Amino acid sequence: MLKGCRTPIPNFKKATSGCWKSGSLLECVAIDDENADVRSYSFKDPAGGGFNHKAGQHISLLLPLEGGDEYRTFTIASSPTMPDEISLTIKTNRPNGATAWMRDNVKIGTNLTAVGPTGQFNIADNPCEDLLLISAGSGITPMMSMLRWLYNRRDDIKITFVHYAKTSDEYLFSEELSNINDDYSALNLYQISTHRDDGPISGLPTASQLKSIIEISDQTVFCCGPAGFMDVIKTVMLDSGLDEAQYHQESFGVDKVDNAPQEIDENAETVTVRFKDKIFEAAKGANLLNVLKQNKFVIPTGCKSGMCGTCQMKLESGSVKMNQLGGLSDGQIGDGYILACCSTLENNLTIS
Ligand SMILES: Cc1cc2nc3c(=O)[nH]c(=O)nc-3n(C[C@H](O)[C@H](O)[C@H](O)COP(=O)(O)OP(=O)(O)OC[C@H]3O[C@@H](n4cnc5c(N)ncnc54)[C@H](O)[C@@H]3O)c2cc1C
Ligand code: FES
Repeated sequence: MLKGCRTPIPNFKKATSGCWKSGSLLECVAIDDENADVRSYSFKDPAGGGFNHKAGQHISLLLPLEGGDEYRTFTIASSPTMPDEISLTIKTNRPNGATAWMRDNVKIGTNLTAVGPTGQFNIADNPCEDLLLISAGSGITPMMSMLRWLYNRRDDIKITFVHYAKTSDEYLFSEELSNINDDYSALNLYQISTHRDDGPISGLPTASQLKSIIEISDQTVFCCGPAGFMDVIKTVMLDSGLDEAQYHQESFGVDKVDNAPQEIDENAETVTVRFKDKIFEAAKGANLLNVLKQNKFVIPTGCKSGMCGTCQMKLESGSVKMNQLGGLSDGQIGDGYILACCSTLENNLTIS
């Protein structure tokens, strides 16, 4: 339990028959349009289990796309206090790609395989008494899960919730946030429009704008949004004296690995990789995720930059060079977990 929290007051429904298992099916039970571009999908366990996640964590759906199966990762936006269903809020306005496929194909009753939940970007592992939840666009989803959880439990901590969108028409969950704000004295809510002067505060984030609404001291910060947005927020926070250990950010993904030109050194030493009863050769120094992909393995991925932890695998033997950016806890590293997206091969290895 968080420091300073009260005993939960609502009498939550409890899932009746154990826990949904990673790798099994999710059944879509509701679809709601949040606005023209964003849709929320609710899923339940067709086997009747409940969900056990930490507010801020994510799950990866296996989508049968035309070009073959691919995983996409989405934050669970619903609260762990409502364990019978999970909801994912997804930007579905792209003309094509995986989320466009979801928009056109996922209906009530659709079953999809999923893995998770996982992720270090969660509030349960980072208890605090003063919290800043700051997001832009669809980066609001982990913040909603955290706020819903804190509100349902009536946790007695200070919460500043700041959400940016281009215009006020694009604010997500406006009505729900306003209702929570009216009912929960712990919350200070700010919605900021970056491209239209249509609220008490507007414009892109700057140090002076943020300091006009938040006294930056020793709060715990969770930030999620486009990379440039997170760079600004992080810089402002750290320049204002925030301890870096109290700043957490989630990346929704960059396409570093897929788009990076693969330089193949014909003379590179080769190593062997064992995975799922298969053994294949790869160049020493090659990126593990690319090597798996070249050998037709589809593994769950998200940010592809070592941050979200979705691509974690167990290193049974051998070694890799890993440039992880917070996707694994020290405990997981100690237990031999690695992140495929940011690991390069050093010698023969066995992974599971
Ligand atoms: C931790 C995390 C949480 C996220 N939470 C949300 C959320 O709550 N709501 C939301 O709308 N989005 C979320 N995302 C982003 C989401 O996973 C999609 O990447 C995003 O919606 C892009 O849309 P798309 O997949 O339709 O794009 P596509 O057009 O299908 O993909 C864009 C490009 O990225 C490549 N690509 C991206 N991901 C993968 C992958 N896993 N495997 C192979 N190729 C890939 C594709 O090849 C393509 O080139 C999250 C991502 C992460 C990492
Ligand atoms: S895909 Fe996010 S850490 Fe590897």
